[in-house]
Amino acid sequence: MSNLLILGSQWGDEGKGKIVDLLAEKADLVIRFQGGANAGHTVVAGDEKFVLHQLPSGVLSGGCFNVIGNGCVVDPNALMEEITAIRKSGIIVSPRNLLVSANAHVVTRLHKLIDEKLGGTIGTTGRGIGPCYSQKAERIGLRFHDLLDGSYKTKIRKQTPKLDFLSLRDRGTVMKESIEEIEELLDILKPYIGDTQQVISRAVSGKKNVLFEGAQGTMLDVDHGTYPFVTSSNTTIGAAFTGTGVFVEFNKRIAVAKAFQTRVGKGPFPTELKTALGNKLRTVGKEFGATTGRPRRCGWLDLKLLKDSFMINGFNYLILTKLDCLTGIEKIKVAIDHDESERPIYVELPGWTEDISDIGNFAKLPKSCRDYIAYIEEFLKIDAGVISVGPDRKQTLIRRKIW
Ligand code: GDP
Ligand code: IMO
Ligand code: MG
Repeated sequence: MSNLLILGSQWGDEGKGKIVDLLAEKADLVIRFQGGANAGHTVVAGDEKFVLHQLPSGVLSGGCFNVIGNGCVVDPNALMEEITAIRKSGIIVSPRNLLVSANAHVVTRLHKLIDEKLGGTIGTTGRGIGPCYSQKAERIGLRFHDLLDGSYKTKIRKQTPKLDFLSLRDRGTVMKESIEEIEELLDILKPYIGDTQQVISRAVSGKKNVLFEGAQGTMLDVDHGTYPFVTSSNTTIGAAFTGTGVFVEFNKRIAVAKAFQTRVGKGPFPTELKTALGNKLRTVGKEFGATTGRPRRCGWLDLKLLKDSFMINGFNYLILTKLDCLTGIEKIKVAIDHDESERPIYVELPGWTEDISDIGNFAKLPKSCRDYIAYIEEFLKIDAGVISVGPDRKQTLIRRKIW
């Protein structure tokens, strides 16, 4: 039937979780294919708010199967905590609706310790992502396979020399604790581990609706982002292939783009607003990290950056989120280019004052809001198929069919 790819087109936190949840209703399979517990995908359903870190956002809609692909780095402890927490709201997560790739890499205590110690210069989430991907590339990684065949002890012992900032005695303790943590979870974890490549391959070649849920955003990609201020995985289209082991002809390659821009952690942000207006956007948009709680840096929409993101990912569908947060700004700036010093070149567009968060259809949006959307569409040469005007499922204006 349909294969959809959803990616963040900026620096993450574009509202991917809300959109995946919305689409998951008709999905048979939802797949995470890169990243790990650094992601924080928020889904608001009525009075309930869920923040998913490693679980695909499809778990909330009940009917579909969920996969954590080989490209992910998975913290088993955090995963089990997430599952336990979500079950308290009556959501069913079990090996009947969740499978973790045996080839995915395992994040242990050791990776988190290294990240906490060394991640400060980048402003990482401290979830052990960089150190785990580093060890994958160094070919000393620990995979879920290794939990099944018992080789995890030897593998963990080989990783500890990396902790050269710790005394030999402390390294021994970390190693012991890493092994113990895994052993405590072993029996619970085993039924979740399996061959995800086959499951995905069958689904995409059969009559199924399959949704690929990206984490982070294009500008955090380790190759194409603002290196070195990036995450440690590819967050762009190629990761959907390498992170699953399956070639997919995507019917839609969906860009989720925030109507302004945010970034958490360090690194360049040409359109950043270090002003009262930036603070206002943060307050109105509740722009605080869903994973770490850190305040997100806020700024104007950067169309040059988005254009690059479209080139990288071949997006053919645009979803604009958080339009409601721009209400009440008299003149809205949009960067259309950068000068030689990477300073943004802006155009100024008229704002609107009306609350749009409960507007049920596109035609009822204030004219200047529609003009703002039209400007973006014209620049990117694409129609915005969905406009999101609030965190709730209901606060969504769908203009073009997605599935
Ligand atoms: P993700 O990482 O891309 O899934 O995004 P996050 O969940 O980290 O951050 C997006 C935040 O904006 C969450 O708090 C969402 O509930 C919220 N959100 C999503 N869409 C909208 C919207 O259209 N308007 C408003 N006001 N909030 C939104
Ligand atoms: P979602 O999926 C926003 C940022 C961190 C840091 C950099 C590297 O919710 O959009 P890492 O822990 O990955 O090594 O940190 O990447 N970062 C995110 N920023 N949203 C995310 O995920 C992020 N995941 C990582 O803040 O700057
Ligand atoms: Mg997020």
